[in-house]
Amino acid sequence: MEQALHARDLVGVQDMVLLEDYTSEEAFTDNLQKRFQENIIYTYIGPVLISVNPYKNLPIYDEASLQKYQKVHFFEVPPHVYAVTDTAYQSLKEEGRDQCILISGESGSGKTEASKKVLQFIAAASGHKPKVEAVKDKLLQSNPVLEAFGNAKTNRNDNSSRFGKYMDVAFNYMGDPVGGNILNYLLEKSRVVHQNPGETNFHIFYQLIAGADQALLDKLHLKRNLDSYFYFSNGGKGPMSNHEYSNQFKVVEKAMSVMELTEEEQGDIMSIVASILHLGNVGFTEEEGVAQVFKQENIESFSKLLGCSAEKLTKALQYRTIEAKGEAVKTPLNRDMAIYARDALAKAVYERLFTWLVHRLNSSLHVGEESNGKKSVMGILDIYGFEIFERNSFEQFCINFCNEKLQQLFIQLTLKSEQEEYLKEGIEWVPVEYFNNKVICDLIEEKHKGIISILDEECLRPGEPNDASFLEKMNKNLSKHPHYIGHEKADRKTQKLMGRDEFRLVHYAGDVTYNSKGFLDKNNDQLFRDLLEVMSETSNSITRKMFPADQLRRRKRPDTAGTQFKTSLNELVEILMFKEPSYIRCIKPNDYKRPSDFDRKIVSHQVKYLGLMENLRVRRAGFAYRRPYDVFLKRYKSLCPATWPSYPGSNKEAVTVLIHHLKYGNNEYCLGKTKLFIRFPKTLFETEDAFQAKKHDIAAIIQKVWKGRVQRKKYLKMRMAAIVIEKWIRRFLAKRRTELRRRAVVIVRQFIEGFITRNGLPTEINKRFVKLAKVHYLNRLAKSLPTTVLDKSWPPCPGSCVEASKYLHNLHTNWLARKYMLSLTPERKKQFELKVLAESLFKGKKKSYPRSIGPPFIEDRLADDQRLLKSSFETNQLQTGERLRYCAPVIKYDRHGYKPRERVLVFTNKNIYLLDAKTFKTKHCLTYDSITEILITTETDSLLVIRIPSDLKKDKGDLILQVENLIEALTILIDITGKPEALKMADTSSISHNLNNGKQGVIDITKGPTPSIIKGKEGHLIVVVVP
Ligand SMILES: Nc1ncnc2c1ncn2[C@@H]1O[C@H](COP(=O)(O)OP(=O)(O)O)[C@@H](O)[C@H]1O
Ligand SMILES: [Mg+2]
Repeated sequence: MEQALHARDLVGVQDMVLLEDYTSEEAFTDNLQKRFQENIIYTYIGPVLISVNPYKNLPIYDEASLQKYQKVHFFEVPPHVYAVTDTAYQSLKEEGRDQCILISGESGSGKTEASKKVLQFIAAASGHKPKVEAVKDKLLQSNPVLEAFGNAKTNRNDNSSRFGKYMDVAFNYMGDPVGGNILNYLLEKSRVVHQNPGETNFHIFYQLIAGADQALLDKLHLKRNLDSYFYFSNGGKGPMSNHEYSNQFKVVEKAMSVMELTEEEQGDIMSIVASILHLGNVGFTEEEGVAQVFKQENIESFSKLLGCSAEKLTKALQYRTIEAKGEAVKTPLNRDMAIYARDALAKAVYERLFTWLVHRLNSSLHVGEESNGKKSVMGILDIYGFEIFERNSFEQFCINFCNEKLQQLFIQLTLKSEQEEYLKEGIEWVPVEYFNNKVICDLIEEKHKGIISILDEECLRPGEPNDASFLEKMNKNLSKHPHYIGHEKADRKTQKLMGRDEFRLVHYAGDVTYNSKGFLDKNNDQLFRDLLEVMSETSNSITRKMFPADQLRRRKRPDTAGTQFKTSLNELVEILMFKEPSYIRCIKPNDYKRPSDFDRKIVSHQVKYLGLMENLRVRRAGFAYRRPYDVFLKRYKSLCPATWPSYPGSNKEAVTVLIHHLKYGNNEYCLGKTKLFIRFPKTLFETEDAFQAKKHDIAAIIQKVWKGRVQRKKYLKMRMAAIVIEKWIRRFLAKRRTELRRRAVVIVRQFIEGFITRNGLPTEINKRFVKLAKVHYLNRLAKSLPTTVLDKSWPPCPGSCVEASKYLHNLHTNWLARKYMLSLTPERKKQFELKVLAESLFKGKKKSYPRSIGPPFIEDRLADDQRLLKSSFETNQLQTGERLRYCAPVIKYDRHGYKPRERVLVFTNKNIYLLDAKTFKTKHCLTYDSITEILITTETDSLLVIRIPSDLKKDKGDLILQVENLIEALTILIDITGKPEALKMADTSSISHNLNNGKQGVIDITKGPTPSIIKGKEGHLIVVVVP
């Protein structure tokens, strides 16, 4: 139901309790019409199903629908006869509660179809074991048999059931059908002898004539021609073609076989059917007040078929035996009475045949001994609805009485269940105003006072009772009753419409005027004793049982038809009372069996007399909607943040929170123990609308979760795949590593072995080690080579490379030196040459040598003020080609007296000059060749003696000089002269030097704390050197 709440504008409401104006018959009919036009034929009033006959086949009974309605909540699916059946069936199966499905409605409204759908659903929903299937087959096949004998075409329905039917289906504890039982009510037997224009006799007559093969027809003395039979009041016009009837006949024969009717039984049944047709053709004339049989051959046929005496039968149709004062008296029957007797016989035979058939089906459906254990029962009541015709007779009286009784039951059960629900849910019960039709039931059935009692009394009383006297008695006794209207009591208007032989009952469903004619006779329902006797002597197995001989001997009069009917109805009510009822209320939309034609007047009428408005009122008196908390919560919890997606408390608490959130008014709802009751449809609709709006959000959530799930699944799959790949890669890498390690171990081992044995005899292993060591050494060396010439470091080398190391060291040093050398300027180069020369001259010889190593040799040691003089000397004094090489201030000691004089010592490429320090005048000029010896001491002093050959006239002996940078000056000097051999180093404490004239001076070398050169006391020059 919830599903369709929001579609209510298009298809109306699924449940009439949701109608805003539930008292309006207009609105009610509107809703039915709206739905009918959309081909929706089912609607609820709470649990009651309303079904509108579509008069066309709708695709709602297929396999898919059968599946759809199994084991679902009643309100989860659109209304359907299957939903009602499933609810009942589940209750029966799960809780073992006996069920009854009450189907009511007027002729042609779809009751029988509905009952078939109920059976069909049960067959589909229950087990499918072969044994169960067999039972189901029988239950289903009982229908064609009963329909053949009990149905006929009427003006309202081509397949109208002319009897009431209550079928019990028994189920075992597993919910499988194990058998059944059928009760039949009030067959319309008058149809056998007479049908209204446009209507037909029972189907079986037509089926037999159309469907039986020739041999059977011959055996039954029948002709394949409907016109030949008097009991077809409307001649040979059956509603269906011969072909259809013929097919149906085969279906019936097959069904009878399924129902386990023996061939003999089937033969006897057909004999009875045929015999009735023959009986109908018996005509009468009259002679002297006694009827005479006109067509004896029909009597013969009848007698032959049933196996009785034709003569006796003829007599029984002419005379009647009456017992008067203990004596049997025969009175003749006139023609009319003979016809009456004939028809009575035909009706009785047919009725009893039908009853026998029902019993026979029951014995076939009987629950077998083997299926013991607890059984539950589902009753299906397909009974005629209320009937109001132009002329209403005893049959309508009975039928309408039946409907009053069922309405009574309905009211009791509905109110009871409603009341019980309130009680169960702890809700205060507010008495509901409704019309209780018990008063009408009482009017009809009350003992001694009711209409049936009056009728029985009239039937039994001595004298000349007739319909008029019966009516009179009723008018007398019942005129005060509010629901009885006699002619006299009626108002003017009604009187005009009512005949004097009529009476009117105000039924709950409307007023019905009954014609009293025939009431007594129909109630009596007696067959003349003579006929009974004939029938009890028949050889046909069925008729003999149907008319038992001991019945004749019984003194007591059998109950009248009215009383029998009343008794069977009360028994039925008794049966139904203790079952859980479900209701199907059938409505026909028009009188013409037309699809898609909704006649509001006709429907309104049915709505009224089915008491549907009453039903709705009772249902709505309290609450329009009720649902278990869990169901309500499940649908609407998304409307409140506190209850979405779940609430920590109970369902009831959650619903309480929810409805507070939705701001339900206090009078709008009620909280039961397990259910929420909502008073007005409006409240529910608002909630539903809110839910519809909210649905999109929920959809988004579902989408979100779904997408998340899909992604997660994908992720997990990828993760798994990644793990697998990882696993394999790890395995691969680990294997490779292991392999590497293994190889490394071998290599390391070989390395170590190689190391240990490196100095031993060469083997493969130590050769490799050595080779490696060499490579490593070279690599190491390459990285730690000295970068300057002065860096004397050299990395250590393995034993195997000593030679190479040396060689390389050398090579590298040379290379560095060469590189250094190549990068030198000519000046620097000269310096080095001079230094090297100095080294070769003085190293280890002259003690002051080490001091000279560091400072560079400088060619010009003059002071700044001497520069000018120097350049003038250069330009003026030097010869062409002569270049200055060295100049430095020196002190010259005279050879006589050793007086120190400041001089400048100059070397050119040709000569040595000694210049006056102040004037740069040449004091001495010597060619290099003229120098014989250059003398110095080995000590740290700076004394220089230059020996000049004595033949050099100009000179006055050796030159004695103090030269500050002695080593520098001498090195340059020797570089110029290229004569190192001239240099002498005196390792003595005194040196003699030449004076001119062959004289000799002495120079003493002593040690002292401060270096100095002074004239000593003995006339020697004393040179003090620091040791
Ligand atoms: N649910 C239905 N779907 C289609 N046709 C239906 C349905 N119910 C009834 N009918 C039609 O209406 C006719 C009369 O129905 P039926 O059940 O015999 O009425 P009732 O038993 O109330 O007199 C059927 O023969 C069938 O043609
Ligand atoms: Mg029917």
